[in-house]
Amino acid sequence: MSSCEEQAYRLLTEYSNGFMVSQVLFAACELGVFDLLAEAPEPLGAVTVAAQLGTSSHGTELLLDTCVSLKLLQVETRRGKASYQNTELSSTYLVRASPKCQGNMLRYLARTTYLCWGHLAQAVRDGKNQYQEAFGVPSDELFTAIYRSEGERRLFMRALQDVWSVSGRRVLAAFDLSPFPVICDVGGCSGALAKECTSLYPGCWVTVFDIPEVVQTVKTHFSFSEEGRISFCEGDFFKDPLPEADLYILARVLHDWTDARCSHLLARIHRACKPGGGVLVIESLLDADGRGPLTTQLYSLNMLVQTEGRERTPAQYLGLLAAAGFQDFQCRRTGGIYDAILARR
Ligand SMILES: C[S@@+](CC[C@H](N)C(=O)[O-])C[C@H]1O[C@@H](n2cnc3c(N)ncnc32)[C@H](O)[C@@H]1O
Repeated sequence: MSSCEEQAYRLLTEYSNGFMVSQVLFAACELGVFDLLAEAPEPLGAVTVAAQLGTSSHGTELLLDTCVSLKLLQVETRRGKASYQNTELSSTYLVRASPKCQGNMLRYLARTTYLCWGHLAQAVRDGKNQYQEAFGVPSDELFTAIYRSEGERRLFMRALQDVWSVSGRRVLAAFDLSPFPVICDVGGCSGALAKECTSLYPGCWVTVFDIPEVVQTVKTHFSFSEEGRISFCEGDFFKDPLPEADLYILARVLHDWTDARCSHLLARIHRACKPGGGVLVIESLLDADGRGPLTTQLYSLNMLVQTEGRERTPAQYLGLLAAAGFQDFQCRRTGGIYDAILARR
């Protein structure tokens, strides 16, 4: 085998084994490995970890050592005995007690997204999401399929919160939003981004607009409902009147929908918006030619298997905003996964 062939084969192996890496991460989180190590007063051996988690010592040792290779754990060996502890990555993002923990999103990816991706080839054939195939539920009404049980709705809502604890301030600081004191977060779910917004802009008030089931779930199961300068409003953003605001935020909403549905929603927001008011679109932006970044391309395929939409280039969003009547577009790349586009009425 030439060295070129060898390199190509290694790359192929890395790609085909990629799902195993995700599963190691999902399993270690589900079993509580990172929480146990965070709570332990000192690094623990595999036998102790297994005893405390109620798992096999054989499987636990294999899992822990693989986590070390993935830099999720570090190991120290003294007199032939290995002891494991969390790395900075796992302490920050995988331990439940950390304010930046991504555990809910990992659980959602493991339980829901992963199963939809098992039907990716079929999604490409059909050009549509795979709820029927993966869960036996029809998806004519997208969010009826996404929220197919109370448990699934709560998991989705908690999963969506996780990213804003890491990236919320960065996207909201991409533009100075202080000239917009009254904000409506359209499809704002549990209010996680609204919370970041009120903390970054002490003069602003945010109304989170979402469907009644979501607002009711926030009020009964989420701790920070209706606190201070955040309020919730129930309705269907395709049909019902939208709250008055100086700025309408659409974070990870347009990527759920076809161009036609986005145009309908943006036209409604344009009608509700005062002259001089604005709309802030927060999405993961594709490069101008649509051929990168890889993470956003994967998210776009994720929209194929899980929604009716896709990720878009800045020009595609600008086209939709312009058709709805918006102008004065500004697009800011944040250097993170999510970017921001501001437009004015
Ligand atoms: C992908 S989530 C994004 C949530 C939030 N903006 C975020 O970035 O975390 C889409 C949101 O739109 C809401 N939504 C979907 N259809 C809606 C409708 N017809 N009217 C109001 N909200 C809707 C969902 O409940 C969900 O909270």
